Amino acid sequence: MIVALIVAMDARRGIGKDNRLPWRLSSDLGRFKQLTMGHHLIAGRRTFESIGKPLPGRRMIVLTRKRDYTAQGSQVAHSLVAALRLAQAAGETEAFVIGGGEVFAAALPYAQRIYLTLVHANTGAEVFFPKIDYSYWQEVDRKEYRRDERNEFDHTYLVFDRRGAPEKSLPAAESPSLAA
Ligand SMILES: NC(=O)c1ccc[n+]([C@@H]2O[C@H](COP(=O)([O-])OP(=O)(O)OC[C@H]3O[C@@H](n4cnc5c(N)ncnc54)[C@H](OP(=O)(O)O)[C@@H]3O)[C@@H](O)[C@H]2O)c1
Repeated sequence: MIVALIVAMDARRGIGKDNRLPWRLSSDLGRFKQLTMGHHLIAGRRTFESIGKPLPGRRMIVLTRKRDYTAQGSQVAHSLVAALRLAQAAGETEAFVIGGGEVFAAALPYAQRIYLTLVHANTGAEVFFPKIDYSYWQEVDRKEYRRDERNEFDHTYLVFDRRGAPEKSLPAAESPSLAA
């Protein structure tokens, strides 16, 4: 299973403000939908609450440390590894970590692919994507998009694949004891 991060960030790595996206980019939302359709999405509790509902056609796993948390139409996990395991156990081929800042920071060492939308603006965001060391990543796709009436800022769609193995990988699942 590929672990992918999908993120839109501004020129200062900003991704969010007041628990929402700090821009209006309908083309990026369309791209997000197209790339993630049919897959598992892993979201932090704050991002899930900001979206407000499970996204149609996708299976949402919400990360929280609250033991009694329930999320309508979604699974809940209490660690990133547990969330990745849920997706893997369901036969997922590419799990998408969709944010926000805290979850991206935890997931970056596991990621093999990053779908990055670079927003060409400083937006006053207060939540940030972690710093990427680009020497570990190879750009495999790039498309430019000019601002228009439905997209507030110029932006660039990028895809990066990791060169080599990720820093962290999913620990092997515990096998049932043979000593019955
Ligand atoms: N531009 C983008 O691509 C993008 C994408 C997604 C989100 N965002 C923005 O990012 C902002 C939200 O980001 P955020 O950093 O404030 O919050 P977040 O990452 O969405 O959620 C943080 C919460 O997730 C849970 N959590 C995080 N790591 C965990 C772990 N390792 N194990 C278990 N639970 C864990 C905790 O929930 P509990 O407090 O319940 O324990 C934590 O408070 C919003 O503004 C949102 O709009 C932007």
